[in-house]
Formats: sequence, structure tokens, C-alpha cells
Amino acid sequence: MERLAIDGGRPLSEKLIPIARPVLGDEEARAVSAVVLSGSLREGSNAHKFEEMFASYVGVKQAIAVNSGTSALLTTYMASFEKGSELIMPSFTFIATASMAVAAGLKPIFADIRLDTYELDLDDAVSRMTDRTRGIVVVNLYGLASDLTAVMKLAEELKLSVIVDASQSLGSTVDGRESGAYGDVACYSFYPSKNITTGEGGMMATNRRDIAERARLIKNHGQRRGGYLHEILGFNLRMGEMEAAIGLIQLQRLGRFIEARRKNAERIKRVLADIPGLDLPVEPPGRRHTYNLFTVRIDPELYRVGRDRIVTALRAEGVDARVYYPIPLHEQPVFRKLTVGGLERAEMASKTVISLPCHPALSEEEVDVVARAVEKVLATYLKR
Ligand SMILES: Cc1ncc(COP(=O)(O)O)c(C=O)c1O
Repeated sequence: MERLAIDGGRPLSEKLIPIARPVLGDEEARAVSAVVLSGSLREGSNAHKFEEMFASYVGVKQAIAVNSGTSALLTTYMASFEKGSELIMPSFTFIATASMAVAAGLKPIFADIRLDTYELDLDDAVSRMTDRTRGIVVVNLYGLASDLTAVMKLAEELKLSVIVDASQSLGSTVDGRESGAYGDVACYSFYPSKNITTGEGGMMATNRRDIAERARLIKNHGQRRGGYLHEILGFNLRMGEMEAAIGLIQLQRLGRFIEARRKNAERIKRVLADIPGLDLPVEPPGRRHTYNLFTVRIDPELYRVGRDRIVTALRAEGVDARVYYPIPLHEQPVFRKLTVGGLERAEMASKTVISLPCHPALSEEEVDVVARAVEKVLATYLKR
């Protein structure tokens, strides 16, 4: 049996069943140890190999390793768009999807989402386009790929670029093809809660040679090879060798992680299938969900208490239930200048979603504790 890292050195049974927990063991430890003993920590052969393996996994020509998903987005936006361009994106996502566009001198235009899949609503997106719109950013929230066939058709018609924020969805497919292989660039995160982790880390995946070339400059202070010749504005966004060495191992384990996530999700769904006023995650035909998070929605009309009270009650039952995300981006103080109306479904989602643990480190017993806790808490608060 492989030794696994223990969160904080304490057995998990003494704590909440955590919302996320990376699966790391001896193989990753040996890979990091080899890098440390080599004395060569800066981006090098491990990072290059990780990029090659990643590109081949996604099915694109190039992958560019960076030090976070946030950096992948910043680099992508800087490498792909002229300053002042407008990008249509969902309001219901993690802050970096939009904040990095602003940091790159672009203007996010927030659009509404679909409530069943939490993806960008394409009709609403189209209604918000102007002659300054240059791109559509789709977000594969909770591990479900967006409807990329429809997105690509629309983008081709309107001659727009497509950026896929695949931070939460490595391994999620549309018609058997990795979601990040669609579009101009896909951005991935390897934060510890993601489908694979390197600690901090991220990756861009693209078939666009021009964007890849600019991205490699941007992540390295605008230098092509060193020598302190800076062609364009850049940063230090490089991935280190220890992170890359972990990533190489994790990528080989991804298939088993996804299998475990899907099995856990099915087990939870079986228990929760018939609960009134509870929407479970859906998997539309042709799309493979990787359940980075198992996110449900409660119908506020059917329960005597609000979502936050339900989350508190689940935590009292030992389940680390969380809310991703409680405030849609158009209501965030940082984006007050970008606020627009008509985003009712994003607002509804932010008030009603609850994410539950579904990660591959859970035992069957823990999965059952999660499902039974939801069943019990919702039965307590259901209006009769
Ligand atoms: C949808 C989405 N976009 C971007 C990011 C940013 O990734 P990172 O935390 O690696 O910077 C995350 C990660 O939390 C995410 O979930």
C-alpha cells in the first residue's frame, strides 16, 4: 500500500471530511527529492517534459507551464488580445477569470449562466456583444466542460477567440475530446484542490503558435533566451522544477483520480436522487464530468432556512460543505465599474449552491457520511 500524505499530520477522522485533499505519496516525494539532490531547481527538464506530456494529454500542439492558474489566465489574455478589447465571460466564476483580464488591460463583460450546468448562457452572451468584443471566455465550473461544440460554432460565425478556463476541469471531455483542445487557449490550475496538483502551478494549452510564442516571452520577463534583452512586457511566471516533477507523476495518476471522483459522485447521487428541491449535478450527453466539486442547489422555496444555515448544519454533521461562490463577480466591490444588470441566474446560483466533498482520497464510508448528512439536514428543514 502506498503511503499517503496526511493533512496537517492529524488523522482525518478527527476533523471534518474535507472539501478537497490532494492525493500525494511516495512517488511524488521521490520525484521532489531527486530534483533537490540534483541542485537544479529552476525551470528545466522536468518542466519541459511536463509541458510535452500535458500537450499530448490535452491533444494540442503546445503547453506552457506557469506558476498558477491565475498566471495562465494573465499570460493568455496578454498574449491573445489588444488592450481595450472586450471579453464576454460568466459572472459566476472564480475572481481570476475576470481580474486577470483587467490586469491585462481588457474589459470583462459579465453575462449570465445556465442554472443546470453553471456554464455561460450563450444567448445572453450574444446579447451583450459590441463591436469591441474580441473573445468569449467559458468556464468549466466544478469539473463539467462547457458546451464547446456550440461555443466554437458561435465563435466561428462571429470571428471571436475562445478562451477556456479549464482550471477545475482537467480530464473533462466533450465528445471524447479534452475540453481544453477546443478554442484558442485553455488555462489549467494545479492548486491543491484541483484534479491534479503541483502545490501552486498552472498550464496553458494551445494550437496557436503565435500565442504560445508570446506567452513564453511574457512568463519570462519578455526575454527569449536570457541575456537581459527584453522584447515585450513580462513577468516571472515560470514553473519550478519541484512542481513540474510532482506534476509529471500526478498527470500519470489522473485517470485513476477521475475514476474515483466519478464513482464517489455516483454513490452520492444514488442517495440524494429523490430529495425534493435539491438539484444534483448533471452530465449532458457527450460531456464527461470530472466532479472537481460535487455541487448541488437547493430550492429556497422548499426549505425553512436559507442555504447558509444548511451549510452550517452540514458542517455540524462532520462534512466540510462550502460555497463556491457566494458573490457573483458583477457584485464584487473590485468590479463596481463593470456592474451590469440582468444576471439573475448568476445571483440565484450564488445564493443557492452548496459544494460537497467528492475527491479521490475519500473512503466509501466517508462518501456515505457526506450523502447521509445531506439527506438528514434537508429532511430536517424541508417545509411540510
Ligand atoms: C475557475 C478558476 N479559474 C482560475 C483559477 C486560478 O487558479 P490558481 O488558484 O491556480 O491561481 C481557479 C482556481 O482556484 C479557478 O477555479
